[in-house]
Parts: sequence; structure tokens; C-alpha cells
Amino acid sequence: MEQQEIMQYLYEVFDASLPRLGPGDTASTIKAINMLLPTGHPYRAAENAVDIKILDIGCGNGAQTIQLAKHLQGTITALDNHRPFLTELMRRAKAEGVGDRIRPYEKDMHDPGLTPDSFQIIWAEGSLYSIDFNNGLTVCRDLLAPEGLMAVTELCWLKEGAPEECLRFFAEEYPAIKDVETNLANIKNAGYDITGYFTLPESAWLDNYYTPLEKRLALLEDTFRKDPRRMEFINKVYREIDIYRRHSEFYGYVFYLMQRR
Ligand SMILES: C[S@@+](CC[C@H](N)C(=O)[O-])C[C@H]1O[C@@H](n2cnc3c(N)ncnc32)[C@H](O)[C@@H]1O
Repeated sequence: MEQQEIMQYLYEVFDASLPRLGPGDTASTIKAINMLLPTGHPYRAAENAVDIKILDIGCGNGAQTIQLAKHLQGTITALDNHRPFLTELMRRAKAEGVGDRIRPYEKDMHDPGLTPDSFQIIWAEGSLYSIDFNNGLTVCRDLLAPEGLMAVTELCWLKEGAPEECLRFFAEEYPAIKDVETNLANIKNAGYDITGYFTLPESAWLDNYYTPLEKRLALLEDTFRKDPRRMEFINKVYREIDIYRRHSEFYGYVFYLMQRR
């Protein structure tokens, strides 16, 4: 399939109306906020609000952006390169009463066009992989203020011994996947100190991500049953979900918390 065709089918499946666009959940976002910025951290003080600039990079339709706005001070730049996600993010943010603190910013992460050293906090849930995880770490480090804080989630091997079909799936779909230790080493090499990390629970994949996604796939299947190209894409997503349901003990999303050195 041509890249343009893949993107068309991808946006049909991963529609802005979904609750979220990658594994994650509110409890994990809040846990990461509290680990990265414990109560009493100066960035959480109301008197510093005007100075706190947060970047949510690859924000999608804003599941985590809204939690950042609710639990942290300051203003949030919500960066994504797909306008319908930003439109939906702002609709949801306004409905939750936090729209005035969020600036939607349609831009490519490869070249974010933002001032270096200017963000106190950067958040990246399930997004850095799309520009290569290590490259994403470097892009974000350049944007973080000295001693700025960052939280990212990334797909990782959780243990060895994954079955052959699982290894083959990732060799095709995400050959850059690493184990946790390798990612920790890469984060350090990119100029950060690690302040904590934890694995997202399986419910963060199933409840708000794969279960609604399966419902959408079923709807699209009804519409596109006679379109083999679209069905090929839809079946690939079904396969991804099936692999997770059967082999989730071997891989998962890890939240990495860090500070610019
Ligand atoms: C897996 S989704 C995660 C979205 C959101 N953080 C969440 O967890 O629901 C990845 C997001 O990164 C965005 N994205 C991918 N490549 C990008 C790029 N080069 N520049 C900006 N955004 C990008 C996608 O549009 C999508 O919204």
C-alpha cells in the first residue's frame, strides 16, 4: 500500500471520536504527574502559574491534555499534525472548563518550530515513536528549559521469551521496540536523569483504547466489507488487538519520568 493510502485508512480507523488514540488511562496520567511533580513542587505552586509552560507533544484528541490542565498550573501547548484531533481536543477541553489554558498547535514533531529551552514540562503519551523514540528524546530535550521535567510513554518488551508470532508481528510493525533497560540507557544518553518509571496496567490498553477501537472496526467492517484494500487495513488492526490479548505479558507501555540534566 502507498503511504497516502495507509494514512487515509489510518485516519478512518483512528477517528477523533474515539476516547483516546493509544494505550493509557487517566489514573496512569495522574500517577505520572504526582511522581514527576510531588505535592509542594514549585511548578505546582499557583503563584508560578504564569511562568509554567507545558508542551503536550503528539497530543491526539487530548485524553492526557485535559488531565494536565486539571492537575497542573500553567499553559499547555497541544501539538499534533492532524487537525481533526486538535479540533476534538478543544471541544472536549471547553466542555471540561479548561479550554482557556490550552493552545492547539498544528505542527510536525520533526520540526516543532518552538523556542529552545522554553518548556518547564513536556508530556508525550504514545507519540515519540512516530519520529523515532531516540530522536524524539533529543527533539524534546532541546525544547525543555534547564532542569525541565518530562514524561513519556513507550512500547517496550517487558520480558524475554515472546512467542514466534509475537516476535514476527513486532519485526513487521515496530522493529525499533526495545526492552526497558535499553530505553532507560537511551534516555540517560540523551541527556536526562531518570526520576521514575512504571508499566501501564492492561486495563489502560483494553478499557479506553482497544474495546472502543474494536467497536469502530466492526462498524467500518460493515461499511467496507467489499473493499479489499480497506479490509486489509482493518484486519491488521484486529490482528494487533488479538496479539495483545494473547501475549500482553511480554510487552506493554512504560511511563518514563525524567529531568533534563
Ligand atoms: C498513538 S497517538 C497518541 C495520542 C495521545 N497522546 C493519546 O495517548 O491518546 C500518536 C499521536 O501522535 C500524532 N503524530 C504522529 N506523528 C506526528 C508528527 N510527526 N508530528 C505531530 N504529531 C504526530 C498523531 O496524530 C497522534 O495524535
